Amino acid sequence: PNPSLLILPGDGIGPEVMAEVRKVIAWFSDHRDVAFEVAEDLVGGAAYDKHGTPLADATMARAQKADAVLLGAVGGPKYDKLDFAVKPERGLLRLRKEMDLFANLRPAQCFEALADFSSLKRDIVSGLDIMIVRELTSGVYFGEPRGIADDNEGGRVGTNTHRYTTEEIRRVARSAFELARKRDNRVCSMEKSNVMEAGILWREEVQWVHDEEYPDVELTHMLADSGAMQLVRRPKQFDVIVTDNLFGDLLSDAAAMLTGSLGMLPSASLGAPMENGRPKALYEPVHGSAPDIAGQGKANPIACILSFAMALRYSFDLGDEATLLKGAVEAVLAQGLRTPDLLGEEGRDAVTTSEMGDAIVAALGAG
Ligand code: NAI
Ligand code: MG
Repeated sequence: PNPSLLILPGDGIGPEVMAEVRKVIAWFSDHRDVAFEVAEDLVGGAAYDKHGTPLADATMARAQKADAVLLGAVGGPKYDKLDFAVKPERGLLRLRKEMDLFANLRPAQCFEALADFSSLKRDIVSGLDIMIVRELTSGVYFGEPRGIADDNEGGRVGTNTHRYTTEEIRRVARSAFELARKRDNRVCSMEKSNVMEAGILWREEVQWVHDEEYPDVELTHMLADSGAMQLVRRPKQFDVIVTDNLFGDLLSDAAAMLTGSLGMLPSASLGAPMENGRPKALYEPVHGSAPDIAGQGKANPIACILSFAMALRYSFDLGDEATLLKGAVEAVLAQGLRTPDLLGEEGRDAVTTSEMGDAIVAALGAG
């Protein structure tokens, strides 16, 4: 059977950018014999309008069975006054939680034509293509005990617990090594083993997974503070970086700024391997539903298209097709095509969402 893809366009610009991904999927099935079983369903405000909940049980069940889920964005002013329990964002949180997506993937890649967009010098970022794997479901954001209490001396004490178990570390390490094998085969693990016991365990367990299961992948270790410095000084030295929830939060946001616009940033969240060996996976652009530009043809579809490219490589083992798609994006940017978010203040001579999608499909045909 063909691999299955569940598409959840969501709200605001979600359906607009997803329409462009549909064109790309159609091109691959027409020209490359790459066919997917594509299903579409509702999430977020769109699901609330129809079902009174931001994610129906039936949709959740379909997501659990799909080989990959591709989501647009959820939310918008129309839903701001809803009860917390049925807010659009809850639909996305439920997907992440019930699919147990413990590895968050944030690539930082720099397209040559946009190298001047970066806050860093062109030669530092041009051609950059790294992947940060952040542990997402444990660590200091979840550890117990936690809370604010009286310290019995007239002051208060705030407590959070940075806690990781062997299995939590091993499973995210495995995700990182698997990804590395589909890329440049290098992993750098970051922690603070100089001052934290959980950091010592992190380093030892990542090393164990490497030695036992992935000896073919190159593994290095770096202290996270020094890693932060290296990330802005010489980011191209890295391929895959694997790190915990807290350090990953900071490092992935910093890495995003290496490359520029929110309209260009894809992401993925992975869980445990399913029976067929593929990881549970949710792919989505980093941006939200952008109500300020929704319905105006101004949204940049590239973040969502690159999220689909990640699905091709990491869920479907279609690395060549993923490279072809990234090449098509690079080509239209090199031709000078820009949605308004890539043009700064004036936005003159901008192309529409749909024109950008059409150009990328045309470039696929030429590539
Ligand atoms: P946002 O990411 O939707 O927009 C921030 C700014 O970036 C806006 O000026 C927007 O026009 C621009 N922008 C975003 N994506 C763009 C694209 N593809 N092309 C061109 N410009 C783009 O974040 P904001 O405004 O904070 O949130 C809006 C709504 O989206 C809220 O309801 C929020 O809860 C929701 N949201 C949903 C997320 C998701 O579905 N994963 C993530 C972030 C926010
Ligand atoms: Mg953050």
